[in-house]
Amino acid sequence: MKFSLKNKWILITGASSGFGAAAAGVFGREGAKLLLGARRIDRLQKVTAEARKAGAAEAHFHELDVTKTPSVETFIAWATEKIQNPKSKIRNLHVLINNAGGAHGLDTVAEGKDADWEEMIQSNVLGVLRMTRAALPLIPRDAGASIINIGSAAGHTVYEGGAAYCAAKAGELQITRTLRHELFGAGIRVSTVDPGLAETEFSLVRFKGDAARAAKLYAGTIPLSAADVAEILVWVASRPPHVNIDELLVKPVDQVAVGKVFRRKL
Ligand SMILES: NC(=O)c1ccc[n+]([C@@H]2O[C@H](COP(=O)([O-])OP(=O)(O)OC[C@H]3O[C@@H](n4cnc5c(N)ncnc54)[C@H](OP(=O)(O)O)[C@@H]3O)[C@@H](O)[C@H]2O)c1
Repeated sequence: MKFSLKNKWILITGASSGFGAAAAGVFGREGAKLLLGARRIDRLQKVTAEARKAGAAEAHFHELDVTKTPSVETFIAWATEKIQNPKSKIRNLHVLINNAGGAHGLDTVAEGKDADWEEMIQSNVLGVLRMTRAALPLIPRDAGASIINIGSAAGHTVYEGGAAYCAAKAGELQITRTLRHELFGAGIRVSTVDPGLAETEFSLVRFKGDAARAAKLYAGTIPLSAADVAEILVWVASRPPHVNIDELLVKPVDQVAVGKVFRRKL
C-alpha cells in the first residue's frame, strides 16, 4: 500500500528555489509537515506560505548553510524542537531530502577557481554527509522513512568544464550507495534522484548571474521543470515501505546525454 505522507515530518534542504521550493509545494499538497532550509530567508518565507496554502499540515523555515557544520547543527536543533514538540503526534522525521547544492562555473581544470571547486564539494558532497549525520537520530527505523539525495546526470558522465561538478555528483551517488549498505536492516530507505537538464536557477548560479548565457542552455528545447522533479520525489517517498527506489536517472526526452540536446528551430 502507498505510504501516506499526511502529517509526516519532511525536511528539505535548498528549499528557497528550484526543485526544493517545488517539492515544498507538492509534499504540502499531500498534507505533510515541512521543515525548510536554505540561505535566502526572504525566499523561504514565500515558499513556506505557498506550501501552507497548498495544504501542508505545518510548514516552518530556518536559515541553513550546508557548507558549515555549526549551521547544520543549529538547523537540526531547531528541527528537533519542532518534531519533538509534545503537541506533535508523530515525533520522527520520515523524509530527509538532501537537495541543496549546484554548480559554480564551467571552467576547465586549467582555468578552475578554488572558490568554485570548494563551494561545489562543500555543498554537494560534504553538505549531504553533514545533513545526514545530523538528521539520522531523528529518522525512525522500520517506519517507511526515506533519505532522498539529489544527484545529477552529471554524476554518471563527464564533460569539459564539469570536472568538479561531475566529481561532486559522482561523490553524492557513492554516498547514497554507501548509506544503503550502512542502513541495511534498519528499515530506512535510501535513494538518489538524478535529473538531467532542468530549468531552475541552476544555470543562473553556474554562470554567476549571466541570464542570457543561462537562457541559451534551454533555448529551443523542453527541459525538465522543477515541478516534474518534485512530483518524482513525492512518488519515491510514497512507495510502499518495503520498496526502495535505489537510483533514478531522469532526463527530458530532448536530452539523450549531457551535451546532446535536441533543439527545435526558433
Ligand atoms: N537544474 C538542473 O539542471 C539540475 C540537474 C541535476 C541536478 N541538479 C541539482 O539539483 C539540486 C537543486 O538545484 P536546482 O536545479 O533546484 O537549482 P536552484 O534553483 O539554484 O536551487 C538550489 C537550491 O540549493 C540551495 N543551496 C545552495 N547552496 C546552499 C548551501 N550552501 N546551503 C543551503 N542551501 C544551499 C539554494 O538556496 P540558497 O541560495 O537560498 O541557499 C537553492 O534553494 C542541486 O543539488 C543541483 O545540483 C540540478
